[in-house]
Amino acid sequence: MSSIVELHPSGHRFQAESGETVLEAALRAGRSPAFGCANGSCGECRARIIEGEVEPVRFHDYYVTEAEKRAGYTLLCSVAPRGDLDLVVESTEASGVDDIAPQRVRARVTRVEPASDDHAVVHLKVQRARVLRYLSGQRATVRFDRVPPCETWLASCPCDAVNLRIHVRRDTEDAFAGFVFDELRRGARATVEGPTGRFVLDDDSPRGLLFIACDTGFAPVESLIEHAINLELEVPIRLVRVVRGAGPPYRHNYCRAWADALDGFQYRVVEAAADGESWDAIATRVLQTLPSPNSGAGAMNAVDAYVAGPKGFTDACRRSLRESGVPEARVKVDSLD
Ligand code: FES
Repeated sequence: MSSIVELHPSGHRFQAESGETVLEAALRAGRSPAFGCANGSCGECRARIIEGEVEPVRFHDYYVTEAEKRAGYTLLCSVAPRGDLDLVVESTEASGVDDIAPQRVRARVTRVEPASDDHAVVHLKVQRARVLRYLSGQRATVRFDRVPPCETWLASCPCDAVNLRIHVRRDTEDAFAGFVFDELRRGARATVEGPTGRFVLDDDSPRGLLFIACDTGFAPVESLIEHAINLELEVPIRLVRVVRGAGPPYRHNYCRAWADALDGFQYRVVEAAADGESWDAIATRVLQTLPSPNSGAGAMNAVDAYVAGPKGFTDACRRSLRESGVPEARVKVDSLD
């Protein structure tokens, strides 16, 4: 049994499965309603039911007054639609990065996953009392004991408010990277501060999506693609990854799985030449993997482009995209350099 939930005033609609809280269903569908803890203790998901009925599926500590209940207010993290009745809920959604306040949450490392000889994926689980609200593609500052903090991209999807992922590249001159590869173990405590950054999806755009990533620039792209998949956007998605050095890029199989599972998803890898090929030359070869400007849906003049990686790379791609006919306003770039 499932219900359709509509958020007011945005008009965004999504399906809630039986027993699933309204908040869980909204996040799974790629929406970003206001919330803070996801477990009934902070009150930030408090919202008014305009149409339909809900039933409690989880105990909550936060006190909703009788007057608020009579006015239709409830906690979206603690209720589900009753039966298969559809629901209209008045809830403020984040429509951009400025709608989300800075937060500081505690977390623990659940896994340090080797992703290649030179890359690791660190999995963090935040404490249930306060989860991190962010938009796909954003960054956060991660802090462990005994090592300077690091501002890095979140590779996880905001649809899972509890589990975060970051990608780390081996770098002998970077104390944080050295700590991750040599010392970090499961169970280590961390604090995560954020979110920051404006490299987020324009999910109202009807255009195709082009993602170009180099090195750990794949982290925000992974988050953006998972978000686009959850939104069930019916647009072509094209991913190009640039790898420096021999072998496939890290998390190559993850990307291949998307290409195998999703209609309209194309995945290409561009290998940078070992002899110090310039960023401009690499960007030119990236563009050569793409369709011509007027080749129908997903053509270069009909895409929104998202580019992440080293600064020289993102600058070169921006220039090449402009020369290929992608308007400047439709190119978003992000770099941590
Ligand atoms: S009470 Fe905190 S998110 Fe619902």
